[in-house]
Amino acid sequence: MCGIVGYVGPREAEPILVDGLRRLEYRGYDSAGLATLTGDRLHLRKRAGRVGELTSFLQEQPAPGCVGISHTRWATHGAATDTNAHPHVAGTGANQVAVVHNGVIENYSGLKRQLEAEGIVFHSQTDTEVVAQLIAYHMDGDLLAAVRKVLKLLKGTYGLAAVSPQNPDQIVGARLGSPLVVGVGEGEHFLASDPSALIGYTQKVVYLQDRELCVLTGEDFHVYDDAEARVTTNVQNFDWDVGDSDKGGFPHHMLKEIFEQPETVAAAMRGRLDESDQTAHFGGLNLDPQQLRQAERVILTACGTSYHAGIVGEYLFEEFARMPVEVEYASEFRYRNPPIDRNTIVIAITQSGETADTLAALRESKRKGHRALAICNVVGSTIAREADGGVYLHAGPEVGVASTKAFTSQVTVLAMLALFFGRARHLSSLQGGRMIEELQALPDAVARALRCNDDVRRIAEKYHTATTMLFMGRQYMYPVALEGALKLKEISYIHAEGYPAAEMKHGPIALVDTDTPSIFLTPRGSVFDKVMSNLEEVKARGGPVIAIASEGDPRAADYVSSRADEVVFVPDVPEYLQPLVTAIPLQLFAYHTALLRGCDVDKPRNLAKSVTVE
Ligand code: F6R
Repeated sequence: MCGIVGYVGPREAEPILVDGLRRLEYRGYDSAGLATLTGDRLHLRKRAGRVGELTSFLQEQPAPGCVGISHTRWATHGAATDTNAHPHVAGTGANQVAVVHNGVIENYSGLKRQLEAEGIVFHSQTDTEVVAQLIAYHMDGDLLAAVRKVLKLLKGTYGLAAVSPQNPDQIVGARLGSPLVVGVGEGEHFLASDPSALIGYTQKVVYLQDRELCVLTGEDFHVYDDAEARVTTNVQNFDWDVGDSDKGGFPHHMLKEIFEQPETVAAAMRGRLDESDQTAHFGGLNLDPQQLRQAERVILTACGTSYHAGIVGEYLFEEFARMPVEVEYASEFRYRNPPIDRNTIVIAITQSGETADTLAALRESKRKGHRALAICNVVGSTIAREADGGVYLHAGPEVGVASTKAFTSQVTVLAMLALFFGRARHLSSLQGGRMIEELQALPDAVARALRCNDDVRRIAEKYHTATTMLFMGRQYMYPVALEGALKLKEISYIHAEGYPAAEMKHGPIALVDTDTPSIFLTPRGSVFDKVMSNLEEVKARGGPVIAIASEGDPRAADYVSSRADEVVFVPDVPEYLQPLVTAIPLQLFAYHTALLRGCDVDKPRNLAKSVTVE
């Protein structure tokens, strides 16, 4: 949530900062701003609204200078207004300080009261302004020293950057619980909350650890720990390129990411399927054979879409690894105190690797001595670094706020993990070999599933004015129903509920009427007849029904088509892989419905990619 970009070097900072903000805008887009320095002058420009509002303002009033910090905001304290936008500036003249901040300062109101008692006047409702005011208060010609003093007073989380005309060639950054990376260039340095902001400028990054500070100048950068000792840094390569984060000819990131799925599913499997041993291999899992054999139970913890992938994972692990699995919302798991057996493996599932609740759940599991692994997309993210081991999705940047390709990659990785754990236990080489063949056929099936796009668009045209929709599925299709409902509500603002289809009779059926469409997931499988009965119950009450069925399934051709108002066909794949093909029409349905309703598909209201606050 929120994005930070900083630059110091020989070039004008403004275009670099704006470019970085555009790349980070998906992380928060309530307001944006920047501050640059020319000698002893600080130039502040900020606006409520999208980065576009800021760039229009910059055309009228450019911000000169080769040093600067910038921010795109997702409001936590105070509404999205020009005044509440970052940077926040405190102090006067050359003593001024500008600060941008991600995270939450939990003790800000007490600190604010103390400063107000000394006559300091606040201008915004934000928690961040207290940081700026405190730094200005402690400023004695050395920005780094002042930031150090202030960090000791703060409770909460921060990724922050500060500049001051007192030290006109410096940026000071600090992190605790909110990511920050230094970008290393030739005679220039960058600071960002996410390395994707630096795409096109540098691929060399240093990830700050919690409680570290950094000082950047054009020529050099230094990182310090909280005992003020210099830290030896590890410069890493960040290998996403410009094409990865552009729209690649699609009108929206979300549509591009939906259509990338044949490739991203293939990327998740690349080099991991072992045909000679009929199992899967994961370079970074860090489980020795003994730990693998001793593992008795798995807890999958995640939020949102990643949580839905976790439910698919539960079914996969139970079916193929014969292991008991629990799926927990990370936000609940972190505060519960469930009895967990010794040989339990906790797996956090996260696209961003920065979700605050998932990170806290991982840390709590580690604290209790469990092996805590991660399934993560963003390389070098906090969760990826803190986990005892894990599996990367290799899906490339997911920029659309609604998660799509991450979901299918997560399910693919979970299927391979179920194979891996299964083969270490009771799954025969024959079964393992069959799974490998079925997994290898997936990218092609996903590509064929995308052919439903035109049908889905036509169906969206018919139903986009609905105010409520229901999504029903059973077994492997239940989490897909949840995911379809989440996709629709988050980007089209239509109220939608996902349900296990049989559960409908216990309440939600009261919602069914001629204006409430239901999407039924009815691919070929063990519960087909059961789901069809549930479908009939909705039809009997006049509810319009859209069915998602398997191509080539004779019962779908007759039975489903004669009962449903619309049928979308997806490739016929084994039941445990059906989430990967049935999710696609639901993603497309949400996309087209949102477009038809005039919604901002990539930046839905009130949301942000990567939820780094509780
Ligand atoms: C929905 C969506 C969110 C995320 C959730 C977890 O489309 O994107 O529900 O899935 O915020 O995010 P990660 O996976 O980054 O931990």
